[in-house]
Amino acid sequence: MLGLKLPTDPRWVNIVEKNIEEILTDHAFCEQKAASTAISFIVLFPEHTELVQEMTALVKEEISHFKMVHDKIIERGWTLGRDRKDEYVNRLMTFFPKGGSRTTFLVHKLLYAALIEARSCERFRLLSEEIADKELATFYRNLMVSEANHYTMFLSFARKYGETEMVNKKWNALLEFEAEIMKDLGKKETIHG
Ligand SMILES: [Fe+2]
Ligand SMILES: [Fe+2]
Repeated sequence: MLGLKLPTDPRWVNIVEKNIEEILTDHAFCEQKAASTAISFIVLFPEHTELVQEMTALVKEEISHFKMVHDKIIERGWTLGRDRKDEYVNRLMTFFPKGGSRTTFLVHKLLYAALIEARSCERFRLLSEEIADKELATFYRNLMVSEANHYTMFLSFARKYGETEMVNKKWNALLEFEAEIMKDLGKKETIHG
């Protein structure tokens, strides 16, 4: 349903379970970055009214997710640590060449966002199904639903602002590239690691 070409090895959850503080820290920053990305769409593309409306709602939702994760960190007696390097996102975002028209830039940015939401959703689903901590299992189940909606929204915006056939071609190529990146990952206690 998410179109991902390579599923995460469920053993990734065994790695995560050994260090809940680490996964929650990384996750908190993923939510914070999702909120920042939504703001960046508003700053860069103010003329797209529908996008601005949806991104305004998204900022609130993502920052509320950040608070939910932050609350979990506090409940467990921890303090939020520094941001972790996201090798997955850094590598993913090298795929499309820089430059091109404003519309091209918008489409690429929307496709990256759609894919990051899709992979996060897949990771949350795995956590909700496999993690032994029941409280976290429910937590991740609820978040999975939100991120699936975000994935659909970003992809529909890409198809709305770009030429559909071209967007579909780019989306498929990006999915192939992402699967290659994922072959090297799934070994760290981070959301995309
Ligand atoms: Fe989120
Ligand atoms: Fe999201």
